[in-house]
Amino acid sequence: MENFQYRNGELFAENVSLQSIAETYGTPCYVYSRAHFEARFSEYTNALSGCEHLVCYAVKANSNIAVLNVLAKLGAGFDIVSVGELERVLAAGGQANRVVFSGVGKTPEEIARALEVGIYCFNVESEAELERINNVAGKLGKVAPISVRVNPDVDAQTHPYISTGLKDNKFGIDIARAPEVYARANGLPNISVQGVDCHIGSQLTDTTPFLDALDRVLTLVDELAGRGINIHHLDLGGGLGVRYKDETPPSTADYIAQVRARLGDRKLKLMFEPGRSIAANAGVLLTKVEFLKLNEHKNFALIDAAMNDMIRPALYSSWMNLIPLRPHQNTESRRYDVVGPVCETGDFLAKDRELCIEEGDYLALCSAGAYGFTMSSNYNSRGRAAEVMVDGETPHLIRARETVADLMRGEALLPD
Ligand code: LLP
Repeated sequence: MENFQYRNGELFAENVSLQSIAETYGTPCYVYSRAHFEARFSEYTNALSGCEHLVCYAVKANSNIAVLNVLAKLGAGFDIVSVGELERVLAAGGQANRVVFSGVGKTPEEIARALEVGIYCFNVESEAELERINNVAGKLGKVAPISVRVNPDVDAQTHPYISTGLKDNKFGIDIARAPEVYARANGLPNISVQGVDCHIGSQLTDTTPFLDALDRVLTLVDELAGRGINIHHLDLGGGLGVRYKDETPPSTADYIAQVRARLGDRKLKLMFEPGRSIAANAGVLLTKVEFLKLNEHKNFALIDAAMNDMIRPALYSSWMNLIPLRPHQNTESRRYDVVGPVCETGDFLAKDRELCIEEGDYLALCSAGAYGFTMSSNYNSRGRAAEVMVDGETPHLIRARETVADLMRGEALLPD
């Protein structure tokens, strides 16, 4: 978290004190560093220089339009999974012809909108979807560019909920069936075969599963070429891990160098769909300690953020670092479970943490820039948090905290 550092006993985001942000905008509040998004995105494009490429940021990781706009200005493409994400990209100034559309359940309306704005490619996840895209494109008098998302059956060695490249997962088409599916696609009048796609999982901390998947995909590309079906691009999805605690994921540069080395003399445009590796360490979630509840066997720190603001610890048992904005020198250290106000035992952000804290203190949950706000909900009728992006010396409010009126918008009483 290079852009979040202590200075004179106080935690900063770039050149802005996080305590001042907490006091100005209230808590819970997500705070992002613009510089971090830019640096991480540029690592991808730098590592790909000299090779035709498109880096499509995975919008699901953090879809605030200010984040998308910062990346669009660097020439980013975008990986989307819904028409909502597509409209966000367009509203943020992203280019439709740099968008890839992933996801297993694309509706006819979503496909039509993507064709209307002219996206770069559909990542097709099933044979039924291929037929649907062909039909919708036919009705609109268009030809849809597609890749087949193949499932290479490799174990990404990550949490089972975020592993996607095994035969048992719902994603993609079994790589063994892929040649037949490509043959079918090639014969459809409103389909244009462009590439091959795979995404095997998220938070990978070793390159071996990526390279195993790549080898299988390259074998497929060669086999298709032998059958006269030429693949122009290779989309390797996202998945590169980050450090939450003590993980040592490969650097983006190393990962991409290893991929490039395996391509040999094949002339393939290289595409990636990174989410977490760009966004996770670009953000923190600020929260306030409301009460300290010291029980006989356990101490609880009750904070104002909850599982509705950040569900990763509850859903995946994720460990995320929790640090004070202004560490105390003389406060007693105790071991706490750090829990929110939601009425669920699973509502915790951290367990068994040694902390020197007092009521009223502010804390930062680290590495919260990816799959934080985007997975938040209104459970317990809690408004979603504010989001702030720091740019050098300046904090910008990029999403206002939800109000009670926001919570009831669109609801209606029955008539008397
Ligand atoms: N492409 C596709 C098709 C995906 O399904 C995903 C993530 C990505 C790209 C981006 O993967 P990344 O680079 O972020 O690993 N909520 C979970 C992570 C779910 C990932 C879903 N798919 C978490 O908080 O750990």
